[in-house]
Amino acid sequence: MNTLEAIKTRRSVRKFSGKPVEPEKLQAVLEAAAQAPSWANMQCWRFIVVTDQAVKERISDLSYVEAFFATRGYSSNPAQKALAEAPVVVVACADPTESGTLRGQQYYLTDMGIAAENLMLAAHAQGLGSVFVGVFQEEELGELLEIPPDIRIVGLFPLGYPLGEVKGGGARKPLKQIVHYEKWKG
Ligand SMILES: Cc1cc2nc3c(=O)[nH]c(=O)nc-3n(C[C@H](O)[C@H](O)[C@H](O)COP(=O)(O)O)c2cc1C
Repeated sequence: MNTLEAIKTRRSVRKFSGKPVEPEKLQAVLEAAAQAPSWANMQCWRFIVVTDQAVKERISDLSYVEAFFATRGYSSNPAQKALAEAPVVVVACADPTESGTLRGQQYYLTDMGIAAENLMLAAHAQGLGSVFVGVFQEEELGELLEIPPDIRIVGLFPLGYPLGEVKGGGARKPLKQIVHYEKWKG
């Protein structure tokens, strides 16, 4: 699968079969994440690979944030079950002191976003699936995984073989709506 094809066909996967992830595929996914560009090549990211079933179930519980979902009419995070069912969960963390801050923008989130897409594309290119889970109880999760308090948790990534048909993600805005040429109004 070439890069453009991988980008175009990747979709969020929220249902996983019990088939284990081969260690070499997991390694390739982590290496792809580590190849991402980052602020001054500081590579603020850290990844915790979780396979213990009881811990995955606790992570799943902690991906529900009532104040966030209740107001949106959800009874759970759409990816919540996936965090317990996938054979692997990658917890993506960042050390903000290993990235830059400029104009009030904290670039550790940018660094991690790029690494996250690399991770998901590498999964997809190998027949695996994943989804970026960005809603979770950070403090409780940090305690569970013994993450130092100055390290931020940016995303959770269930990883495994998709179960059943992967439904298409939402349609994308047409380029004419999001691209300007030469100037904003162009
Ligand atoms: C920063 C970020 C946070 C996300 N958090 C969640 C989440 O908590 N739960 C979930 O089910 N999907 C989550 N998603 C997945 C998006 O809903 C999904 O990428 C989007 O609907 C487009 O679908 P696609 O990935 O299949 O193309 C998140 C995506 C991003 C980039």
